[in-house]
Amino acid sequence: MTLSIICTDRDPIPWVTALQEIDPSLSIHVWPDERQWDEVTFALCWKHPAGVLQSYPNLQCISSMGAGVDHLLNDALLPQHLPVVRLVDPGLAQSMFEYLCTAVMYYFREFDAYHTYHSQALWHQRPPKMMAQTTIGVMGLGQLGGYVAQKLAQMGFNVVGWSRTEKAIANVTTYAGKAALPPFLHQTHILICLLPLTAQTGNILNAELFRQLPQGAYLINVARGEHMVEEDLLIALADGQLQGACLDVFRTEPLPPEHPFWSNSKIILTPHCSSITNPRSVAPQIVENYRRIQQQKPLLNLVSVQHGY
Ligand code: GLV
Repeated sequence: MTLSIICTDRDPIPWVTALQEIDPSLSIHVWPDERQWDEVTFALCWKHPAGVLQSYPNLQCISSMGAGVDHLLNDALLPQHLPVVRLVDPGLAQSMFEYLCTAVMYYFREFDAYHTYHSQALWHQRPPKMMAQTTIGVMGLGQLGGYVAQKLAQMGFNVVGWSRTEKAIANVTTYAGKAALPPFLHQTHILICLLPLTAQTGNILNAELFRQLPQGAYLINVARGEHMVEEDLLIALADGQLQGACLDVFRTEPLPPEHPFWSNSKIILTPHCSSITNPRSVAPQIVENYRRIQQQKPLLNLVSVQHGY
């Protein structure tokens, strides 16, 4: 019985340390340094090489090292009969809120404009705005989106939310399904994308969607780069349909140095750091699922492979 850590763009060592702090007797392998592939029953993965999970004949469970599972489900060679679990962590939701709170307030209090005035030694006050008259639209109301929507509403913003299925969140007006997307968008001044990446949500942030926002709206994408059509964003920023964008995720990561987003003054760009999983914080649920597999008990945070999240 062994847990294997299979990741390509994360350092596995802090994960080994955190897991062994919970259970020092745990047998852990780190791919590709596998000794006995047939001993591995549990795979903890982040951007694993496609097809590699076929190499483990006795695998019983696949766990994401993060909240998202698109990197797993996009592998056409993923063993179809195995349960897939993800990480759900209050720490992840809180750090996502901290990032979004910063991005929203920077835009809302117009620090970008003041930054420009500063560079010109210009003393100029912009007219005041009110939170209650600013509508934030959150797309995706799962563990992260639901938490963030609730916290932004508590701050005093008018918050609306959109998701595939009906959700009820205190002080947030919610919309569900494709037909409800236009009324949700028409009122949204600041759009936050926190959707899971699925066949239905890929490329959802496109020119047609941007046109349905009020002119001069602001976009924040902290979900996946594949949600957004990059050329459509550049056009919407150039023609003023969008005033600006804060992007943490990209189709290609790391974002290549020659990418036009780097030099666009209307874009604030961060390196997929909005909410980084803390191995110590999530190790208990990983070990718990590892034990549950051995004890044939129901798993925590089981993913619906059919829905993609
Ligand atoms: C990060 O993007 C995650 O899915 O945890």
